[in-house]
Amino acid sequence: MTADQETRTILRTPAPPSDPTAPDPTANERRMAELQAELLHVSRITAMGDMASALAHELNQPLSAIVNYLKGSSRLLDAPEIPRAELKEALEKAAEQALRAGTIIRRLRDFVARGETTRRMENLTEVVQEAGALALIGARGAGVQVRFINDRGVDLVLVDKVQIQQVLLNLIRNGVDAMTDSPLKDLSITVEPGPAGFAQVIVADSGPGVSPDIASQLFQPFVSTKPAGLGVGLSISRTIVEAHGGRIWVETAPGGGAAFHLTLPTDTPETL
Ligand SMILES: Nc1ncnc2c1ncn2[C@@H]1O[C@H](COP(=O)(O)OP(=O)(O)OP(=O)(O)O)[C@@H](O)[C@H]1O
Ligand SMILES: [Mg+2]
Repeated sequence: MTADQETRTILRTPAPPSDPTAPDPTANERRMAELQAELLHVSRITAMGDMASALAHELNQPLSAIVNYLKGSSRLLDAPEIPRAELKEALEKAAEQALRAGTIIRRLRDFVARGETTRRMENLTEVVQEAGALALIGARGAGVQVRFINDRGVDLVLVDKVQIQQVLLNLIRNGVDAMTDSPLKDLSITVEPGPAGFAQVIVADSGPGVSPDIASQLFQPFVSTKPAGLGVGLSISRTIVEAHGGRIWVETAPGGGAAFHLTLPTDTPETL
């Protein structure tokens, strides 16, 4: 990718606050809300297919029980002498089953809902290495040489570990995917100091680089060149990184592959 394209990618993101260590809280809130919406969308798409039939089955049981108890109650009402105790019991059982259906729905809502985010001081090397181990599980990482580099003393960053690992996981998997047809499969993950108050992570691969067709929309949702790709990885990553007050962009690696850079805060901003 050329320097021009890179600049364009950066310019597509909202204007950064003038002091990068003091992120605009409303912009952050907005980005977090967008992030939640996007993640919910993705979880829904991927999880609903599997869950729909199990859920239908789960809900069907209390619903048919309710129908039976109510039909029974109706019959009891037709009797010349209404058996009040029996009727009461049937109605209570119907109510119980309705509560059971409610519990099933609540559990589903919890499953789909996104938990609260928590930012802590985390060891960046550990965060990166764990994400790397996860990303390279299975055949997807076969034949790929991975190097972790942290020789400039970067230690702690203030991040939501799970979210940043989600970002790194996507960057590493993207790198591995990009090198599928490359004879040389080198992936390096470098941790180094960034601008004041920030650390920088660079995930660089030896693949063909980002296709010029999509370079300007790289961080937009649903942009993908992969047959089975949703194209949400980089869009979610940008939202997560910017919500942390950092930036994410792509450059061309020395060998022509893609080098994704991201910055993460090392200090506690005053307005968190
Ligand atoms: N390291 C890379 N080298 C070359 N192209 C890349 C690289 N990383 C991303 N891309 C391009 O950017 C597109 C978008 O990436 P993104 O991670 O957002 O979505 P995806 O990987 O296609 O799908 P998913 O939603 O599963 O992540 C990819 O389809 C690919 O074309
Ligand atoms: Mg991806």
